[in-house]
Amino acid sequence: MKIAIILGTRPEIIKMSPIIRELEKRNSNYFILHTGQHYSYNLDQVFFDQLKLPRPKYNLRVGSGTHAEETGKMLIGIEKILLKEKPDIILVEGDTNTVLAGALAATKLNILVGHVEAGLRSFDREMPEEINRTLTDHISDFLFAPTEKAKQNLLKEGIPSEKIFVTGNTIVDAVYQNLKLSNIQFNTLNDLDINSDDYFLVTVHRQENVDNKERFQGILDGLKLVHEELDIPIIFPIHPRTKKRMKQFNLKPEGLTLIDPIDYLSFLQLESKAKLILTDSGGVQEEACILRVPCVTLRYNTERPETIEVGANVLAGTDPNEIVEKVKFMLNKKRDWNNPFGDGKAGKRIVKILLG
Ligand code: UD1
Ligand code: UDP
Repeated sequence: MKIAIILGTRPEIIKMSPIIRELEKRNSNYFILHTGQHYSYNLDQVFFDQLKLPRPKYNLRVGSGTHAEETGKMLIGIEKILLKEKPDIILVEGDTNTVLAGALAATKLNILVGHVEAGLRSFDREMPEEINRTLTDHISDFLFAPTEKAKQNLLKEGIPSEKIFVTGNTIVDAVYQNLKLSNIQFNTLNDLDINSDDYFLVTVHRQENVDNKERFQGILDGLKLVHEELDIPIIFPIHPRTKKRMKQFNLKPEGLTLIDPIDYLSFLQLESKAKLILTDSGGVQEEACILRVPCVTLRYNTERPETIEVGANVLAGTDPNEIVEKVKFMLNKKRDWNNPFGDGKAGKRIVKILLG
């Protein structure tokens, strides 16, 4: 069986890495097609280098644009390559424009589609990710749901149970495979002059937050209040979308240590030793939960409700006072929850389902 791995952004590279490693180990017939949705070194190549992944055979270099521009260019480029390579199945991971374009191009050519991390739902159609993941699920042939809850979401939408496989989330594999390495190879805390369990880590990049001036301002005001009341360093690796909007809206963050986006091993170390994490990222909510670091989510919903159910995460939205209250609440949490996302063998399981 010939497999095409289609990816294009930071979280897809990280979450596909356990599957790619497994395919390499088995000497399987596969290739990587990169759409080029992410292209800055620290959002893209750094992960291939650090995780020792093979170079993509193709890179479409679509770059940034509106949703239609990105998705349209990807569709045209992906179709050409699929026609040439004739894979039996394509694999996509998550909910980005790359995922929708990959799944759509393949299904129209009658090529099987496998969706890794299927069945997540925020039930908020204003998020581009919700559209991407829902449409992709409905045109997929193999739906690799990370949890039982994700499977139930799919069943409720009428997707036949024979297509759904509960595998765990490959992010657990990625954390387990890389955490030890990160502590051996890096001393990120030293470099930033901070101490273990004595700083907060922040990431914010979602369109609904940073493209909306009031919401973005609310988050920055909330972080400033947290800094004033709790007097603790707040480290914020800033996503390029966020940086761009901050400049455009002329917002001035206060009380934060802004740094460029960093490599995965350093970021894992920052997460694992943080006193608390504030984020609107999907992957970061999961990693905080896996690493038993309390999380405050700067959104009004989450497609990762398992993190809230086990007590690892709360929703704060973007109101400054609510952010401070939720931070104080989570600081009192006992870190004794169990990781709901699997045993770290999701990548192996997925490859086994496909290749036997
Ligand atoms: C995308 C995904 C989002 C995911 C995120 C992961 C969609 C709809 N959104 O959002 O779900 O959580 O990736 O990080 O697919 N830019 C750079 N360098 C890059 C890439 C982007 O500077 O390598 C800047 C550009 O100004 C660009 C902006 O970031 O316009 C947004 O990039 P885009 O890929 O459209 O969306 P993300 O916000 O990265
Ligand atoms: N990440 C990283 N460096 C950073 C910020 C995040 O390596 O500076 C990793 C993080 O560990 C997680 C992934 O990027 O695995 C999450 O990606 P992102 O937040 O961009 O996207 P989302 O998960 O929200 O789609």
